[in-house]
Order: sequence, then structure tokens, then C-alpha cells
Amino acid sequence: MSVFRFRKFVRSAGWGMLTRPDVVFNRLLNNYEMTRRAVRMLSQPSKIEVEITNRCNLACVHCLRSKRGFKAQLGDLSPEDFDAILRQFPCTLTLTMAGFGEGLMHPHFLEMVRVARSRLPNANILSYTNGLLVGDIVSAEDLVRSGLGQLHFSLDAARPETYAIVRGNPYFPRILENIRAVIEARQRLGSPRPFVGVNFTMMNENFHEAAEYVRLGVDLGVDYIARPALILTHWGYSDGARRIPRQELVEALTQARQAAVETSAPMPLGDYMTDPAEYFAHYEERRSQAYRRCIFLWNYIQIDPFGNLKLCCLHPVAATHVWGNVLDTPFRRLWNSEALQAARQAVREGRVPLAPCAQTCVRPDPELAD
Ligand SMILES: C[S@@+](CC[C@H](N)C(=O)[O-])C[C@H]1O[C@@H](n2cnc3c(N)ncnc32)[C@H](O)[C@@H]1O
Ligand code: SF4
Ligand code: SF4
Repeated sequence: MSVFRFRKFVRSAGWGMLTRPDVVFNRLLNNYEMTRRAVRMLSQPSKIEVEITNRCNLACVHCLRSKRGFKAQLGDLSPEDFDAILRQFPCTLTLTMAGFGEGLMHPHFLEMVRVARSRLPNANILSYTNGLLVGDIVSAEDLVRSGLGQLHFSLDAARPETYAIVRGNPYFPRILENIRAVIEARQRLGSPRPFVGVNFTMMNENFHEAAEYVRLGVDLGVDYIARPALILTHWGYSDGARRIPRQELVEALTQARQAAVETSAPMPLGDYMTDPAEYFAHYEERRSQAYRRCIFLWNYIQIDPFGNLKLCCLHPVAATHVWGNVLDTPFRRLWNSEALQAARQAVREGRVPLAPCAQTCVRPDPELAD
């Protein structure tokens, strides 16, 4: 565990979960089964992501929701169904309340956090937000009091004009104000939570601002600055968006790295941030082997607002990768269904597990090539 992850865990979740022998045992077993590429699972995933709503107040240029042809049924998960889902995952260490929607649009967002906190008192409960509804639908104080462990604000820009292009609205100053408001409310209320982060998904429209984004995060005084994220899948772009030329991408990441080092930013510098040039020099090879590092079939599951079990947000179209419904069928049965066991077996044998993986995780990405 990196120093950042450790700090996040301690601040946002506490140690309580580690005093639960069932949770510790499940995590160790899950790790063992994932490492061994077990086909039939005895353990449960320790990370779950519940998309409490897939409605959103924005239409960002890079988001799946903005893609022409996006036709998912939209809706909210009820607090009762949320509780019924969480009851099936008593060993959860990390619960993410987000997906392809804006959590704060959910009319019962705070109640949902409280449901999660009472069902999983010591888990790390986190959410991602576009941040614009803080102070409007939900106050900064209420967010702090809710028990949320981490709140990550998606900036996707460092300048108002870029924000307007990517996020389709002129309210960049408001998101900065809202980040400060949550940090101040937390200090005022003397609460260690939520741990506040920012993130930035790189695309042609904004990648040149990656270093500025790092400095902005430092100025805001957030606890965590996520690495500038790469959009790895072709489906992620809205139809009109353009791709980043490889060399320019490497330069932007290198500058972001330098900015982080110079400012001692709370940003992890592993993986592709360690040496972006070296990383992208072997990109095609890494990409063609990406499925070998798959964790989703073992450790990390996603559930949509209708209770459908999905396995990986790299699979864009729900209809192609729903593995059953956890509100109809107990998760433990779905987890060892024939189809899932076959997918695990495929990774074990060095084959791409599922048809959509070949379009996403594995597919060489010509858009990122020179
Ligand atoms: C899908 S959003 C959902 C939560 C919330 N609405 C928000 O914007 O933070 C979560 C994060 O995914 C990022 N994202 C959106 N589309 C993406 C894509 N095609 N590839 C990678 N990340 C994407 C967003 O920029 C955001 O940081
Ligand atoms: S990135 Fe978030 S805010 Fe933007 S459209 Fe997607 S879900 Fe909504
Ligand atoms: S795309 Fe497929 S192989 Fe890749 S992480 Fe997702 S489920 Fe695993």
C-alpha cells in the first residue's frame, strides 16, 4: 500500500474494520484468490461501487453519457434497495457511491450515506462529484456530518475557459468555492472527514493544463490530487472530441510530475507518472497485456441503480455485460455463475476474458498512437 493510500485509508475509514476478523479474513482470502487467479471464489470482493443514480446535471464532452446513442435507462436507487444491496456485502472495505451520474442529484444522497455508514460503520465510503450542487442541494456542513469518508471533485481543467469546453458550463469559480467550503466546514466542525480530493481526466481539450491542475490542487489545500487520468477507451470520447498526440501527452505528464515534485503535492507518482516517456514507449505492449492485470473479476464489482451487477466500467454498454441482478438473486450465486467462472478461467489461461474487453482494456488504441 502506498503512503497516499495508507493516509487516505486512515483518514477516511479509520481502523475499525481491521478489528473485524471476518473482514480481515475475507480480504486476505480475496487477495490470495486474486493472486492465484481462482476460478471459483470463496471470498467476496472487498471493493464495491454502487451507482446510486445515473442521472446528471451536466453533459461533459468526454463522458459516456454524452455520447450519441447513449440510451441507458435513467433512475435512482432507493435507500431501501441500497440497504438490501449493502447487506449482501458485510466485508466491504471500500464503497464508492458513484458511477456514470452525479450522486448529489439523488434526492436522498445524505440519507444514502447514512444508510451506508450504519451498515458499514468502518468502511471507506467515498464519492466523486462535479461539485456544482454543493451549497445548493446539499450544504458543505451536511456533507461533513454525513459520515462520508472521501469526496473527490472532478475538475478536468485548470482554467475557466477550458472548464467551460470540457464540462459545458461557466461555473468553474463555483466548484473552487465549493471545494474550499467543504474543507472549511470540516475544520469548523473538527471532523477528520471527508478526505477531499481533486481529479482531472486528460483529453485533447485540457491535457496541456495538467501541471496547472497540480498547482491548483496545492493552492486549494486539498488532501489528495489524483494523477491526471488517461482516458483509455475509445468509447470515452464524445463524438466530436480529438485525441492527444503521444509526444505531447508524455510532455504534459512530465510537466505535471515536475509540478508535483516542486510543490510537494499530495499526488501519487507511481505507475505512468514515474517515467511517462518510458511508460509510453512500451504502451502497445502494456495495453495488449492489460487483461492479465484485471482485478474486476475477483475484487471489484459495480452495481447500477437498478441492481444490475456489472464488472468493469471499461465496458460501456450495460446490456453487454450485466451479470444478473443482486436485488433478485443473491450476489453469492451470481459471483460463481458459470459465465463468471468461465471469464476467470480465460484470464487464468492467458485469454481475453470477455468480448467487450477486446474493445476496451485490450484493444490497441490508435488514437493515442503517434
Ligand atoms: C463518470 S464521473 C461521475 C461522478 C461525477 N459526475 C463527476 O463528474 O465526478 C467520475 C469521473 O469519471 C471521469 N470520466 C468521465 N468520462 C470518462 C471517460 N470517458 N474516461 C475516463 N474518465 C471519465 C470524470 O471526469 C469524473 O472525474
Ligand atoms: S463526467 Fe460526471 S458530471 Fe460530467 S456528464 Fe459524466 S457523470 Fe455528469
Ligand atoms: S476490460 Fe475486461 S479484462 Fe480489462 S479490467 Fe475490465 S473486465 Fe478486466
